[in-house]
This record gives sequence, C-alpha cells and structure tokens, in this order.
Amino acid sequence: LPPPPDILSPEFAADPYPAYGILREHYPLFHDQGTGSYLLSRYEDVQRACREPVFTTDNYAWQIEPAHGGRTLPQMNGREHAVRRALVAPAFRGRELQETFLPVIERNARELIDTFRDAEETDLVARFATRFPINVIVDMLGLDRADHDRFHGWYTAVVAFIANLAQDPGVAAAGRRAGEEIADYLRPVIRERRAAPGADLLSRLCTAEVDGVRMTDQDIIAFVSLLLAAGGETTDKAIALIFRNLLARPEQFAAVRADRSLIPAAFAETLRYTPPVQMIMRQPAAEVTVSGGTIPAGATVTCLIGAANRDADHYDRPDEFDIFRPDLSPAGAFTAAAQHVAFGLGRHFCVGALLARAEVETGVGQLLDAFPEVAFADGTPPADTGVFTRGPGHLRLRLGRGEG
Ligand code: HEM
Repeated sequence: LPPPPDILSPEFAADPYPAYGILREHYPLFHDQGTGSYLLSRYEDVQRACREPVFTTDNYAWQIEPAHGGRTLPQMNGREHAVRRALVAPAFRGRELQETFLPVIERNARELIDTFRDAEETDLVARFATRFPINVIVDMLGLDRADHDRFHGWYTAVVAFIANLAQDPGVAAAGRRAGEEIADYLRPVIRERRAAPGADLLSRLCTAEVDGVRMTDQDIIAFVSLLLAAGGETTDKAIALIFRNLLARPEQFAAVRADRSLIPAAFAETLRYTPPVQMIMRQPAAEVTVSGGTIPAGATVTCLIGAANRDADHYDRPDEFDIFRPDLSPAGAFTAAAQHVAFGLGRHFCVGALLARAEVETGVGQLLDAFPEVAFADGTPPADTGVFTRGPGHLRLRLGRGEG
C-alpha cells in the first residue's frame, strides 16, 4: 500500500495528480492531519457532498468571510441561500447576459488586447487573464472604468488573503485593508443607485426583491467582494489554462484555430482536466457515511475536485486532455454521467458559469483573431502552481502575425 500523500507538501503543490490517484484508489475517505479535514477524492463522493443538504457550507466562514466583509452566498444554506441566490442569479444568464453584458465582455477583451497588439512577446497572464474578468465585473456593476486598476489591486490583495495558508500577517492585513477600501468605495455609490437606479448590475442588486427580502448595503458589499474573487481568479486561471493546454497539443490548438465553435468544448475539457478551483469545503450537520467510513458531524470535508474530475469510473483515459472525447459534445457539453465538477454541483453550482464561458469564448476567440501565430516564448509550456486554486503563474507567448 503506498503511504497516504501529504496535501500540504511541496511534492503535492508541484503536481497533485499522482496524489489524487493514490487517494482515490486506496484512501477514498482520508482524515488528513495537516489540514485536520476529511478528504474526498472519488467522483461519486464529491458529487454527494455537493448535492446532499446534510453537507452544509457553514465552515466557509473562516476562510473567506473576513475578506468579504460579511456572509454571502457560499456560506449560506437552506432557504436563506435560495432567496439570496434568486436575487442575484438572473443577471448572470439568459437575455441579460447576452444583450447587456456580452458587449461589455467584447469591449474589454479588445481594449486589453490593444495594449499588446503590436508586441512580439507578451505574458498572457499579467497582460490579459488577470485583468479581463475584473474589468468586466467593474463594468457590469456600472462603476467608473477609470478605476479598473484600483479594483485589480484590491482583487490581488483579497485573493492573496484567501490563499494565505501560511498566515503571513502582512498579507492578512493587506487583504483586510482592501476589503475596507472596497466597502468605503461602494457605500456612496450604493446610496446613489438606490436613489436613482440604472440598468447596471449594482442597481439591480440595490432594487432586487424576492419574497419580501432585499439586500442591505452590507450584503451588497460582501457580494461584490465575492464577485471579484470568485469571478476573477477562476476565470483568470481558466483563460491561461485553456491556452496552455491547447498550445501544448499543437494539433488540438490548430483544430480550435480552424473552427472557433470548438472553444466551448476546449473550455469544458480544460475545466475537467485542470480545474482552476481544486478544492471546496463542506461541513456535515450530522454524522455521514461515505466510501465505507464515517465523518463526524461538524468536521471539515475537503472535496478534491481535481481528483473527482479524473476518476476512471467516470472518464475513459482520464489523464488525457482531449477536446474530442466521445462523452463531450462539440458544443461543449459533457453527457450527464460525465459532467465535470469544476463549477461545483447542486445548489451552490457556480452562479457565474455562463458568464465565465462567454468571457472565455470571447477572449480566446479575439486572441486567436489578433495573433495568427502563437507559441510558447521559451518553447515549453509553463507548469501550474497553487493548491486551493491552480493555474500557470505566467504564460509568456511569442506572437506572430503571419507575415512570414
Ligand atoms: C460558486 C468555480 C467563474 C461567481 C462556484 C463554485 C465553484 C466555482 C467550484 C462552487 C463552490 C462550492 O460549491 O463550494 C468557478 C470557475 C469559474 C467561475 C472554475 C471560471 C472558470 C465565476 C464567475 C462568477 C462566479 C465569472 C461571477 C462573476 C460565483 C458565485 C458562487 C460561485 C457567486 C457562489 C454560488 C453559491 O454559493 O450559491 N464557482 N467559478 N464564478 N461562483 Fe464561480
């Protein structure tokens, strides 16, 4: 029997996938000493933890609440969660997304690409991926476009706060300060929008009402902070990952370049193969039995998304990146049985999934249009970093315009 892996070790951080395999096969329910949590790695178990209400999200508070200035969707359960979600979800789908926000997405992709359109080399992470989703959210909220850089700074501090496993006091203080500055910035704007609402997302949050419930100023501030982190870092990593995964496989990159309608399939396979969010947490309200063992009430459960997404009981050749896999339609949908868990599942399923898909489709499409030739600047694909969230820290590309 191989020894159980240590998910806080440098080896795990360098490449968690071998460890995920050992956990799935030999320790499907594992009480990890380092994190003090119970690790779930099989697809079936992760799915249950997402779907069954006994698995609450009460333990999210320690991780993200301080940076968000209060409780918001991920920490809520039951009816409170359902009502709050109904208040915000419509803005992220359907006509609202297509008609109001797609032009915002297109404009922000174009403007960022303009900043390196004539360059021979760029770092796609620094120049595009980390900025694009934040700029989109700021514009959707109807905030001042001149403040894109300020929001990017706050976002960077909040994300560092959440990832601050080592509990560095400087990082923690900067994250709290960013949270306070976001709140100070938003308070007067919320007052204005309550008095004179417009068509923007912030006005919508100010006026939305479900079952007699409306969002307080503090609720809105916490939700906006959540959007920056939940919608920023994830989409940021997804854009870098789809590019890296495709470029590392030139024939799949060429196929997508030749047929842009394959971008959604490449996005879905990227989320399965290299999910930007690797772990989500749950807390059972009562003792539960999973994969033959029991988890006590009140324990912390860590669902290993990256492990579930490569479970051989659900995918053929799980460790291969293949945008043409038979259980994935060319339109980008996995069959129900093979649905990846990169967006979670069930009642906390990612509110921004369609927005993320629209951003990736638009961003990748525009990048391919702008640069007929793209290659890794130093000839090799960059590795991923990060344990809770994971993606390439940089993506230096050589850009050619096909003039020969
Ligand atoms: C929830 C991943 C993009 C907003 C989640 C969850 C995951 C996730 C795994 C579930 C967490 C849990 O169950 O504990 C991703 C990935 C993205 C992405 C991989 C990009 C590829 C976005 C975007 C937004 C967003 C663009 C909005 C701007 C949210 C919100 C929740 C959430 C508000 C909480 C939903 C709830 O608790 O009911 N996301 N996300 N996400 N996501 Fe995303």
